[in-house]
Amino acid sequence: MKKVVAFIGSPRKNGNTATLVLEVVKGAEAAGAQVKVFPINEMNIRPCQSCFSCRKQYGCPIDDDMKSVYEEIKQADAVVIGSPVYMLQVSGQVKVLFDRLFPLMDADFSPRCGIKKTVMIYSQGQTGADSFKASFDLNASVLQVMGLQIAETIVCTGANRPDTAAGDAKLLQRAFEVGRKLAE
Ligand SMILES: Cc1cc2nc3c(=O)[nH]c(=O)nc-3n(C[C@H](O)[C@H](O)[C@H](O)COP(=O)(O)O)c2cc1C
Repeated sequence: MKKVVAFIGSPRKNGNTATLVLEVVKGAEAAGAQVKVFPINEMNIRPCQSCFSCRKQYGCPIDDDMKSVYEEIKQADAVVIGSPVYMLQVSGQVKVLFDRLFPLMDADFSPRCGIKKTVMIYSQGQTGADSFKASFDLNASVLQVMGLQIAETIVCTGANRPDTAAGDAKLLQRAFEVGRKLAE
């Protein structure tokens, strides 16, 4: 059975990011995967304190909710990360998560926990799916060194209302299929 870890990086509980992440989760579960969802805005996740202890070993001395993330992500075959676009980039919540995932990368820049198929989901106000390509490509590079290899990127556009994704049957179908493929 495949294990999937999913992160919701928007503070809007029923917003577009949450809708799409949960649709990918539905697809993965329908195909038999075991999924753990982390709503990161609801969690106690402190920003990285730059102690560099994770350069020597996997894990982090900060005693917060990342402890369970490190456990789950180590075992996971696949990862799903959803973020709204804030100021051309991922939300602050997701940026903090990226920094705290530093332990996934060894001192020689190789991934400590192997390669995991990764789905990135973005939701944005802009209508152009390529509007933030430079930013999305940069995130893909950051994740790659941690072993999180982008398999699919889903972008919800023109989405300032929280229910845009929920009203887009085609996008939901794609998210479900992407989730099913993660379980293969
Ligand atoms: C602080 C902030 C900054 C934002 N910056 C951008 C931006 O740079 N480009 C953009 O297209 N939309 C921007 N937006 C709009 C959100 O990306 C958009 O509403 C998104 O669909 C919200 O996703 P959610 O429903 O999952 O919360 C911003 C919204 C907020 C609150």
